Amino acid sequence: MKKLLINPAVFVLAAGSLFVISCGNSGSDVAMKSPAQHTVDSTNQKEKSENDGKENDENKSIAKPVSMVEGTDSKAKTIENLQAAFKGETTASAKYAAYSKKAEQEGYHEIALLFKAASSAENIHANNHKAVLQESGISTPVIKPEYTVTSTKENLEDAIKGETYEATTMYPEFLTVANAAGDQLAMISLTYAYKTEKKHRLMYENALAALQNNAVKSLPTVFYICPTCGNTYETKAPARCGISMTTGEKFIKITSL
Ligand SMILES: [Fe+2]
Ligand SMILES: [Fe+2]
Repeated sequence: MKKLLINPAVFVLAAGSLFVISCGNSGSDVAMKSPAQHTVDSTNQKEKSENDGKENDENKSIAKPVSMVEGTDSKAKTIENLQAAFKGETTASAKYAAYSKKAEQEGYHEIALLFKAASSAENIHANNHKAVLQESGISTPVIKPEYTVTSTKENLEDAIKGETYEATTMYPEFLTVANAAGDQLAMISLTYAYKTEKKHRLMYENALAALQNNAVKSLPTVFYICPTCGNTYETKAPARCGISMTTGEKFIKITSL
């Protein structure tokens, strides 16, 4: 068990290096931070105050990796985590597609487009996780997504809850374990999803605020999805993806349902 202990300072350096290699571009995208940066960055007071309790949880996860806590090997745990992430992303993709239809039925076309865009991004995350598992010779089971469609307001609240869990708890923990395992492909796939979910959370929060303030018509009506990492942009595609550096010309444009 001792060999799996991680010095937090070493983790920060290692994770930081990986992000430079795999992402290449920190850009101006405010949501683009690694779990390590997320933990140590004290400049973003708003995010810090909102996530005080969750930040503590992240620190705990860095000090005590799941693999160590549960007494299992970090490589085996990474496979297990990728399978869980694949199931989660597959379910999220199907759920958001259903939420998109519901939003359109309720007359919230702009929110329907956002759900469609996020659904497309989650599908890319699921396929990335699946590809990493396949590299390890692991096949993924057929997932039967389970979710409940309610009102668009409640669907947005559910989406915010899901994205918050993934961005502040699940992916930071999975990344810690994958780092302990030295699994570079898993780190890349998990990082792509982690960074995108942080953006989705903000987009859903903005959509909920607009819904509550009778301002849905002011929301974006064009979305761009990076085919490599699922990164989601509103209104305009950048020259290169802020996460994976994929050229903007390859982005999937979403303007209709
Ligand atoms: Fe998401
Ligand atoms: Fe990307």
